[in-house]
Amino acid sequence: MAEHFHRLRVAEVVPETEEANSIRFEVPEDLEEAFRFKAGQHLTLRTEIGGEEVRRNYSLCTAPHENDLMVTVKRIAGGVFSNWVGENLKSGDMVDVMTPHGSFTRPFDPGSKRHYVAFAGGSGITPVMSLIRTALSEEPRSRFTLFYGNRDSTSIIFLEALAGLKDRYIERLEIFHFLDAEEGDVDLFNGMLTRERCDEAIEHLIDEPQAISDWFICGPGPMMDAAEAALLDKGIDKERVHIERFTAGRPSAALAAQMQALQEQAAGLTVSVTLDGRTRKVDFTEANILDSARAAGLPAPFACKAGVCATCRAKVTKGKVEMAARYGLTDEEIAAGYVLTCQSVPAGEGVAVDYDA
Ligand code: FES
Repeated sequence: MAEHFHRLRVAEVVPETEEANSIRFEVPEDLEEAFRFKAGQHLTLRTEIGGEEVRRNYSLCTAPHENDLMVTVKRIAGGVFSNWVGENLKSGDMVDVMTPHGSFTRPFDPGSKRHYVAFAGGSGITPVMSLIRTALSEEPRSRFTLFYGNRDSTSIIFLEALAGLKDRYIERLEIFHFLDAEEGDVDLFNGMLTRERCDEAIEHLIDEPQAISDWFICGPGPMMDAAEAALLDKGIDKERVHIERFTAGRPSAALAAQMQALQEQAAGLTVSVTLDGRTRKVDFTEANILDSARAAGLPAPFACKAGVCATCRAKVTKGKVEMAARYGLTDEEIAAGYVLTCQSVPAGEGVAVDYDA
């Protein structure tokens, strides 16, 4: 897929907490189809700040059936885009928005009777909110359990919206808040979602972990690692554990050196790139296939350039590539030949990648 950015008007900026805002976009009728999304997906936003193009991915918090295109942006210290949103963005402004993408989702089916569980931390609630709203509305017999970690009650994004959902789906939604800087009566809930707390939560609050159809994890890196390890150690099938990362860890020195050696070897190779139905040969002139394709004038899509968002995903249809970070891909996608082109270097002549596949 080439990058399909559309200029959308901001309908509303909704403060969620002191640090988080949701942005609601107006979608003109002729773009409704293009902006149809699946629960848990995200949007890439693009704007110019201080003369520089800045792109960021933000998850949708709404459900597909709600006809409401809304993402949530939490301010982070030094975050160029998130602070720009918090300080400057207002209704009526125009923002470039890429059509929805992302694989932190699953197909929902009205006939199913499933139990889903999510571990969310901080703004990691955003795609989980979309999944909860969708699962409970589209599958009238399914249940959802949420473990949600925050600093204190004032920093809980969607506190009221979650309480509203709980009222509406009293029998089918369970919410457990874990607060790091506030003491309640139950020890288990006093503190972050560490490995130990994840273990206890699964053990004491989930009747039959093996019967859970899907586990969703989104939040700060250490929380995600803790939840994932807790599940895998309990023998939960990896295919049922869905993880959405917002940031990447620093690559190890060894990996960085290895990638640099591969980049040097690959200099001067050509790569065949298919994008929007057209195939072109491009020289490998930059640090990765994405940058080389863009340097050759192809509008190959990207957002994070850190191996997290999968916006730059393409399928290798010929030859072999070496990939550094691969957070944004599932094991199935890797097995099917998909790579993150922002992290990929051709391992020889004759490599072909297809962004449309
Ligand atoms: S641009 Fe985000 S993974 Fe490549």
